[in-house]
Amino acid sequence: MSEPSPTTETTESESTDTNDPTSTRTAATASMSGTSTTTGESEEELREEWTDYQFAGETHVAAENLDVHYGDDHALKDISIDIPSESVTALIGPSGCGKSTFLRCINRMNDRIRAAEVDGSVEVDGVEIYQDGVDLVELRKRVGMVFQQPNPFPKSIRDNVSYGPRKHGDIRTGLIDRLLGRGESDAELELVERALKRAALYDEVSDRLGDNALGLSGGQQQRLCIARALATDPDVLLMDEPASALDPIATSKIEDLITDLSEEYTVVIVTHNMQQAARISDQTAVFLTGGHLVEYDDTDKIFENPESQRVEDYISGRFG
Ligand SMILES: Nc1ncnc2c1ncn2[C@@H]1O[C@H](COP(=O)(O)OP(=O)(O)OP(=O)(O)O)[C@@H](O)[C@H]1O
Ligand SMILES: [Mg+2]
Repeated sequence: MSEPSPTTETTESESTDTNDPTSTRTAATASMSGTSTTTGESEEELREEWTDYQFAGETHVAAENLDVHYGDDHALKDISIDIPSESVTALIGPSGCGKSTFLRCINRMNDRIRAAEVDGSVEVDGVEIYQDGVDLVELRKRVGMVFQQPNPFPKSIRDNVSYGPRKHGDIRTGLIDRLLGRGESDAELELVERALKRAALYDEVSDRLGDNALGLSGGQQQRLCIARALATDPDVLLMDEPASALDPIATSKIEDLITDLSEEYTVVIVTHNMQQAARISDQTAVFLTGGHLVEYDDTDKIFENPESQRVEDYISGRFG
């Protein structure tokens, strides 16, 4: 059986379903005129300023006029959003509104879904990723992904973490060995340890790196998957409901880890847990039924005083 590749990705089953400090972007979706709210109480225009969000810092990922179809299903409609670097951006919204689809656009995972057709632009570090000649392996090294269900390989803890760098030849190039005058296996161990430490797992597994990863708890497995993603030295981490299969204590560890990682990485996280989005994210993008990005702003603003009535209804649990 072939293994998922590269490490920053997921299981095969998933693949089938699933420096401008005042950077701004005008929402291309200028109007949703005629669209009823889910509650059916009123209609509202999608105002540009609800997604025309200004943040401090640099833009790391920028989508513009992004549309995704699965056959006749228009899953994402004209999404334009800038995502700032070294912060946590939460994507929230009801089931089926396109959050996972959007996340998969950022590392072109939708390319693996035969029915998916992506139109529009996504730039990572200012470089268009939807153009000919883009090296998808390289892209997915730089844009790592973690999924709802922890999906470690049935290998040792150590081999899970070193899988990506080995596959990409980062260890074989021997750069670290040459610099440090060490052998290949020392370099690999160093890399494994560093990734496990960054994922806040090292202390729990340091004495059993050779054990099978499937023997770890769910929360440990998820942190191992994060370590595996970190091992290829990405700068963007996409997380699709990474804690929804975990108990509160394991969830809290993942949340603390995400907060720490956001000092170094650009984290984009899908969550159905409003409290989690409010706790850990710096900015929140609300997608609503129909595949629209309705509002994007500082997380506090979204949760305390959203502009859109539909967002208010969704957040207060009146629908979704
Ligand atoms: N692989 C696929 N093939 C066909 N249609 C798909 C596929 N993945 C998603 N869709 C469709 O695209 C739309 C958006 O799905 P998506 O999984 O992105 O939503 P989501 O917001 O992540 O939902 P959830 O919160 O349930 O995970 C849905 O109508 C869904 O049926
Ligand atoms: Mg999803």
